[in-house]
Amino acid sequence: MGAKLLCLCLLPALLAYYIYSPMPEGLAEPWKLMVLLTPFKAVGHLAAAVDLLGLMHYMEAMRLITVIETVVATSDENVTVTSTEFNNVPVRLYLPRRAPDGLRRAMVYFHGGGWCLGDAGMKSYDHMCRRVSNELNAVVVSVNYRLAPEHRFPVPFEDVYSVTKFFLQSRVLSQYGVDPTRVCVAGDSAGGNLAAAVAQQLLEDAEVKTKLKAQVLLYPALQTLDLDLPSYRDGDNKPLLPRRLMVRFWSEYFTSDPSLREAMASNRHVPAESGHLFQFVNWSQLLPAGMRKGLAYTAPTYGGAGLARRYPGFLDPRAAPLLASDARLRHLPRTYILTCEHDVLRDDGAMYAQRLRAAGVTVTHDHTQDAFHGAIMFTLWPFELAVAHRLFNSYVEWLKENL
Ligand SMILES: *[C@@H]1O[C@H](CO)[C@@H](O)[C@H](O)[C@H]1NC(C)=O
Ligand SMILES: *[C@@H]1O[C@H](CO)[C@@H](O)[C@H](O)[C@H]1NC(C)=O
Repeated sequence: MGAKLLCLCLLPALLAYYIYSPMPEGLAEPWKLMVLLTPFKAVGHLAAAVDLLGLMHYMEAMRLITVIETVVATSDENVTVTSTEFNNVPVRLYLPRRAPDGLRRAMVYFHGGGWCLGDAGMKSYDHMCRRVSNELNAVVVSVNYRLAPEHRFPVPFEDVYSVTKFFLQSRVLSQYGVDPTRVCVAGDSAGGNLAAAVAQQLLEDAEVKTKLKAQVLLYPALQTLDLDLPSYRDGDNKPLLPRRLMVRFWSEYFTSDPSLREAMASNRHVPAESGHLFQFVNWSQLLPAGMRKGLAYTAPTYGGAGLARRYPGFLDPRAAPLLASDARLRHLPRTYILTCEHDVLRDDGAMYAQRLRAAGVTVTHDHTQDAFHGAIMFTLWPFELAVAHRLFNSYVEWLKENL
């Protein structure tokens, strides 16, 4: 009797202890978010355990979330949804059923998940693409590019690039009734990284005649150079994407060699001969004062001898679009960048917005004070937050006006 009573009292206490995570101040619905994040936290612990035991790669185990969340392609009264392939890369295609009034707009979408996780078929991505297709009467192509660690940089980039290039051919656009002057690329997180990289690469591709109308970057990852930006400080308290997970995603994109991960974790992975690149991520010049928070700029510490030679990808603008020169940025299409205050990637997006503006690109920088990384995905019950609806609505509004 006594033991049972003890268990009855202890269990909820243990559960509460497990669910509790420190939340940064100023976040919307912090208690609800804390509870919603518990399954993610549990999968993270499980993945760390099986990785430690040598049973499975950490990222393979993390894919449990993707697997649970994935739904088959199903059409509804508004949108026909099919799974197909463009240039041998699997895509999920959303075609509106509503009669078009003229040619349609189109979006090529890249999902997030640190280049290692995620799927176009995850409920939240499926829902986002479906709504964009329905509300804009637009064709949406959501790409299932191959993932690291099995397929490292540049494979994920090459997959999304090859789909975009395939879709932008006049014969394909006209097959789907798409207006070639109204096509955008879009993506969130690692997908925002891919979208920014694709938009840059298209500028230099003489084979592509169609120009993008816009690029849409939702809390994108844009640089590997400085992982100690103000937004990365206190990074282990940030919901959903703590600093250590972001460092893991970045390093896994290039290699599973722990020496790159460790060097990135201590922000000593860039060799002195690449020092000139730091001007592109100099937050003392590129961040607004409110985001610098009075922190003093410290010059980079060089290190990682040999890492950049072995894994040159992390200094390649196709992986780190912020490292492109101003001359290259100048020709980019109009841009929407969403950043969230409680996100290690906040400064990547904010600095890109600043650099693009300085280069003369039309930029809408939507910064949300009470949001966190990944927030836009939480629009579906039971993982539903008011802030997600707000972010999603402003994203769709921008698309309606600018695409
Ligand atoms: C179809 O579109 C209408 C109008 O936008 C919307 O009210 C309805 O919920 C949509 N149906 C589905 C299944 O999404
Ligand atoms: C960054 O900018 C500051 C001035 O705002 C300057 O003192 C510093 O040398 C710059 N550092 C690099 C690496 O560009």
